[in-house]
Amino acid sequence: MSFKKLVWRLTPAFTHRWLRNVFFALRLIPNVWYDTKRYLVYSGMNKSRQYQGEQAARITMAYHQLEKGLSYAEPRPGFGKEVVLRLLGGVEPFIAQYGFVAPATTALGVLNAYVAFNESVNVDMTALKKRIADLLNNGGSVQNICNEGGAISISRTELETKRAAGFKDFFNSRYSVRNFSGLPIPAQDIVECISIAQKTPSVCNRQAWTVHAYSKKPDMERLLAIQSGSRGFGEQASTVLVVTCDLTRFVDVGERYQAWIDGGMFSMSICLAFHALGYGTCCLNWSKEHRDDIALRKVAVIKPEEQIIMLIAVGTLPDSFKVAYSARRPLQEVLQVH
Ligand SMILES: Cc1cc2nc3c(=O)[nH]c(=O)nc-3n(C[C@H](O)[C@H](O)[C@H](O)COP(=O)(O)O)c2cc1C
Repeated sequence: MSFKKLVWRLTPAFTHRWLRNVFFALRLIPNVWYDTKRYLVYSGMNKSRQYQGEQAARITMAYHQLEKGLSYAEPRPGFGKEVVLRLLGGVEPFIAQYGFVAPATTALGVLNAYVAFNESVNVDMTALKKRIADLLNNGGSVQNICNEGGAISISRTELETKRAAGFKDFFNSRYSVRNFSGLPIPAQDIVECISIAQKTPSVCNRQAWTVHAYSKKPDMERLLAIQSGSRGFGEQASTVLVVTCDLTRFVDVGERYQAWIDGGMFSMSICLAFHALGYGTCCLNWSKEHRDDIALRKVAVIKPEEQIIMLIAVGTLPDSFKVAYSARRPLQEVLQVH
């Protein structure tokens, strides 16, 4: 008889729940430590700047903030000065170390778009233009500026045509939209989109997900205030979704991250389903610490066993609007054929 079975026989039934907790904790702890150690060593959290990936991520995060600002319906003249300094502070050493490669080249494209916007509203950009020129004079040229940066203008009819033009065009014409016209979304369209998204594959078809939909202004305001990543556009959304996954449907130590995997895939399907019906979506990050998580659960009235995966702002599209370019990493970095 195994040790586990022997312990089971010798102990009263009411202690079994606690014993199970102890068995699983003993298996969970080394795994959580393994994950924690890997995250401590390899993530950019400790600002070691040891990894090209970390530097690239910090550059991308900074230029993305500028792209987002440029894509708003009415960008504020001169917005994001601190972000520009942070971006240059990342790009200059990156280029010195790795040369004119992405994402530094994309960042230069975004900075150029930022200069063009600000000059169009009479904000003096002499100092920034000089820093860009100095960078290029140091072994580069205008050829090193990637022109896939900034914001692009798009129209509702253009999107309609692309959506109908086959999978590649359909997929490529989904953007994170931060410009909504603010009309209500009929309840049957929300139902239709979530029912389409249910076709998402999941581990052993467990479909642990739930979607909470909020369309009342005060509810959306409270949720978005806690999420905090939709400033400048969240108030135009018609509906806010909170995607969760039910932890009770995952049953082993190895499945400790399955909620985020299945919930992430489901969220993507939701975005595509709304895109198919002609609505705009913007995923809203829920990589938070416990205090925010607890706060959102209270406001959103979410059961304790549900893991919040992300929020999604959904809205109606204006006739024409801007979206952030959000250039993709070079394919040769992403696809490694073995
Ligand atoms: C999990 C997740 C969280 C995100 N969080 C935010 C957010 O808080 N605010 C925001 O404006 N965009 C957010 N985004 C949108 C990304 O910025 C966007 O997907 C990315 O720049 C790629 O652009 P695209 O969606 O237009 O292709 C998020 C996207 C994902 C997938």
